[in-house]
Parts: sequence; C-alpha cells; structure tokens
Amino acid sequence: MCGIVGYLGQKNTKEILLNGLKELEYRGYDSAGIAVLSDGEFSSFKAVGKLINLEEKTKNFTTEGFAAGIGHTRWATHGKPTELNAHPQVGHNSYVVHNGIIENYAELKKELLEEGVVFLSQTDTEVIVHQFEKNLQNTSNAFEAFKQTISELQGAYAILLITKSEEKTIFFAKNGSPMLTGINAENEKYFASSDTPLIGECSEVNYFEDGDYGYVTQNDLVIYSKNNVKKEPSFTKLPINKLSAQKEGYRFFMEKEIYEQSSVIADTLLGRLSENKVLFDELDYNFFEGIKEIKLCACGTSYHTALCASYMFERDAKIKTSVEVASEFRYRSPIMSKDTLFVVISQSGETADTLETLKIAKKAGLKTLVICNVDNSSMVRIADRAILTRAGIEKGVASTKAFATQVTVFWMLSLYVAQIKKSLSQQEIEKQIALLRNVPASVHVEDTMHERIKRLSKRYLHGHGFFFIGRDIFFPLALEGALKLKEISYLHAEGYPSGEMKHGPIALADPELFTIALLPQNLLYEKAKSNVEELSARDSTICAISPVIFDKADDFIQTQVREHYMLEFFEMMVVVQLLSLEISIRLGNDVDMPRNLAKSVTVE
Ligand code: G6P
Repeated sequence: MCGIVGYLGQKNTKEILLNGLKELEYRGYDSAGIAVLSDGEFSSFKAVGKLINLEEKTKNFTTEGFAAGIGHTRWATHGKPTELNAHPQVGHNSYVVHNGIIENYAELKKELLEEGVVFLSQTDTEVIVHQFEKNLQNTSNAFEAFKQTISELQGAYAILLITKSEEKTIFFAKNGSPMLTGINAENEKYFASSDTPLIGECSEVNYFEDGDYGYVTQNDLVIYSKNNVKKEPSFTKLPINKLSAQKEGYRFFMEKEIYEQSSVIADTLLGRLSENKVLFDELDYNFFEGIKEIKLCACGTSYHTALCASYMFERDAKIKTSVEVASEFRYRSPIMSKDTLFVVISQSGETADTLETLKIAKKAGLKTLVICNVDNSSMVRIADRAILTRAGIEKGVASTKAFATQVTVFWMLSLYVAQIKKSLSQQEIEKQIALLRNVPASVHVEDTMHERIKRLSKRYLHGHGFFFIGRDIFFPLALEGALKLKEISYLHAEGYPSGEMKHGPIALADPELFTIALLPQNLLYEKAKSNVEELSARDSTICAISPVIFDKADDFIQTQVREHYMLEFFEMMVVVQLLSLEISIRLGNDVDMPRNLAKSVTVE
C-alpha cells in the first residue's frame, strides 16, 4: 500500500524512479507520480491508474546529470484516486511523497488555511509540504524547518521531501511506515519502502527505525533518532540478484503462484524435518518455557491461517490457543499475561494493525514470535523470534502461496510444541512428519482438475451470493475460499461453519445461492454431509468438493482419496483458489491487482 522511492545521484533519475516504482507495484496502488529537482528546476508528472500511464506522460522527459528525485505509488486514503491527489504533493518550492496517515492533518490544515495557504488536493499529505514551507519562513535552514515539521506531525509516515531551498538534498522521516536507504559504490543515495527496488542498485542498506529523520546529500547521510540524537547508519547487505517474479507463461501471477505452491512448500519444509523430529533453527525448547497459552493475531488471509493454527495447536500440542483480528485487538484493552506466547502472522511483515499488536505485546513483556514471508520486514526485526515461510515474492494481491506456507509452518510448529509438551506419542509425531512430506504433492495442480474447474466456473458468474462451508479446520479454509472469491471476483461470498447454516443463513437458500461445500473424507464427513443435504433440500445450488461421490450436489469436484484430512485440506485449498481465479478471469477482472485492495496495508 503506497510505495516510495527516492534517488540522489548522477544516473538516469527518471529510469531509476520508474523502475523502483515498478518493483513496488505489488503493494497495490491507484495512481503514481514522480518529481525531479535538477539544475534548480523541478519537473513533476502524475497519472491515475497503472504505471504505464505515468511512463507515457514522462516519455519525452529526460534526466541527465546530478538530480534529486522522489516517486510514489498511491493507494487512496484521503481523497479519491485523482491526479491532484496523487503524490508528489507540491508547495511553492518543494515536493513531498508520503506513505501512512497524518492523523492531525485536519488541525494543521485549518491553521494553514487561516493563514491563506491554498490547498490543491484532498490529501492529508499536502499539509506536510505547506507546514514545511511555513516553518522555512522562520528559519534560514531547510533541515531545521523539516525537523520542526516532523515534530508537528502525528500518525504514521514515511516521508521524502525535496526543496529548491536546499537543492542537492533529500529529507526523510520514518515513523510506523516502512522505509530504507541504500548507498552504492559511487556514494549515490537510494530510498524505498522495501528492499526490492534497491537490489542490484546498492549492496548495503540501512533500515530506518521508527522516529528516524534526517537528510542525504552528495557526500552525507545524516540520521537523527526520535530523541534528536545523531546516529550512525547500521548497514546490512542486500542480495545481489533480483528475485523479481515473472509470469513465466501463466496468465496471471496469482495463477503462477498457485502452481508454485508445491515447490515453495517443499522449501518451507527444507531442513525442518528429520525422521522423528520437527526442527526449527529459529527456536529452542527454552523459548517455550513457562508458556501456557498461545495468542495469534493477524489480518486477512493471515488471520485465516491463525484460525487454522488454533485447531492444530489445541488438537496436537494441547495448548490453549486464541485468535484475534489485529485491528480489534489493538484497541480493546486486552488482558495480557506473561505465560502467553504472542504470535503474529503476516505475509508482508508490514501490515500496520498486526505490527501494532506486536508492539503492544512486546511492551507488555510477552514473548513474541512472527511467522512471516519477508526477511528484514518490520515485524521480523521487532519480534523476539521469526520463522520465515519461504514462499518467495508473492505478487498477486490475493494471497495463495503465502497462505499455503503459513499453514505448513503451523502444522510443523504444533508438532514442535507437541514434542516439548509430549502431548503426542512419538509414533504419532513420526506419522505426521511423514504426512508433512506429502504436502507438496497434495497441492500439485493436475491438468484435469484445472480444466474441470475452468469449465465449471462459467456456471458461477451470477447469483445472489456464495456460501463456502466446512467443519473444523475446513471452516477457516471456507473463510479463505470466500475471501479469495470476494477479493478478485467482487461477488458476495461468505464462509460459514457447516453446522451453523441452519441458525440463520439457510434462510437465504434458493437456486441462485451457491454453496461451495468442503467435504473431506477423513474429518467429520457424515456430519458435514448432513449439513449439505439440508441445503440441498432447500434447493440451494451446491458444488461439492470431496473425494467421496456425492449425488445430492449440482456440481461435483472430485479430489483424491488421501490418508489424512490435512492432505485433503491442502488439495481443497488449491481447488477453491482455482475456482476464484477462473471465475475472476471469466468476469474480465484484474486478477493480480483487484480494485480497492492493496498487498501491503501499511495504514490502519
Ligand atoms: C491485505 C491483503 C490481504 C492480506 C492482508 C494481511 O488486506 O490484501 O491479502 O491477507 O493484507 O497481510 P499480511 O501481509 O499481514 O499477511
């Protein structure tokens, strides 16, 4: 959600900014822009929609020689996605880009308006540049004016600002939203919201801490901490090669990522399973000492993983587990006790609400663990321990392989805790380890299966809604199936526990209500089947997914007979992902970048 790039140096500034923004596309955006300050002159371009529109607008613009440039992809929060609201936002002599939300922007704006400042946009961001220029009137030093401006802002931000009053400089500030800086061999400076735009450009980067602010010039990188104390950058090495994802013949990244699940899950398992034990280099048994309870916190798809994890932890590890949506947890004055292990789950490691719950838990003195796909992300850096899911870059906004690897990690983690607590017999642990080794095969996409789903999808493009239903751990899978469909098809879909349908939702049953029923053979089959029959009796249109032929369904997707319900879980996960994908493609939607959604939600 919103991406920032910056560059100060001799190279082709326009190219560097546009390429950097392309690398951040996955975060989700609805408009984009750049501003370049070179030889005392500003050039700025903005465009609504995809980056190709910005490229078109800048096609006759060239940058040569030394320049300071900033760029931004915007995901609208305050004000519609228009060109005026796109960043960079402009003052008289300065431009700013910002990721986050300035919570006191209304008060600042009111004062500025009273002083006669004219606002061009509806954004919260615009106050930053005007406030800076106001402060600049009272000091001859642009950095002093910037510093004062930052001290007046409340909320979350990553900010880059360039100004004619200090031409060869980029000012920066970070609080709550991600940002890092990199320096190349020629001492040129780069900025970005995540490390991908900097890979290949710089070998070393400094991740800013919350409260950091400062500036870069040709020769210097000056950082102050939130206590206004000058600090040295702390550089870490970046990988040399870009792992940037390509579609490789698939129609959409999401499709490619569904097909990749088999190999990425194999990576997730790598080195973590022996014949008789689950191993995590990232953990040790002492870490769980004194832990009586696990609390899981996450958003979106990661929240569904948390729900899955709660079934596994309680069943196998026999440890009390609770799950919360991060945006709720952070404001409800939760009771926290030190015998609780606080686990956050996040594909990106940057989701603002989840990040905040992690900070709250740390502050309360709880042990913390993050399950994350992005190394060096904010959550990975903050949590006591981190387990990386190793899914590789996920480009599709609707998460698939990240979810698959998260659930795999939790299956292993519940066995790991079971080892410590001796809640499962050695024989059972070994049996489940053998099953875990079969997960990559269970998510392999068979051509016949994909073809069948493709054909079936044409019957599910209308209607007044979908219910995805399942029992036990198949309930969170039903929630995830419904979320996938909603996200990319824009059709109304809900996930329900199968047994709960008769307590209200069944009132909606009619032929135009589509029920996607998850019917695993190895877990509560008869119970779940009865629930589907209740719906069938009320003429709901049913698509059953099961290895067992079910003649009361209108449509039937037959999965393979498998020895354990978790292997059925993984296969059915692929089925619901493909079903959403094919419905969305038939509806002509942008599968990888669905409307209104962002990959990395760095505002609350
Ligand atoms: C956004 C994305 C979802 C994602 C959620 C949590 O809403 O669109 O796909 O599940 O954020 O993201 P995280 O990176 O914390 O897993």
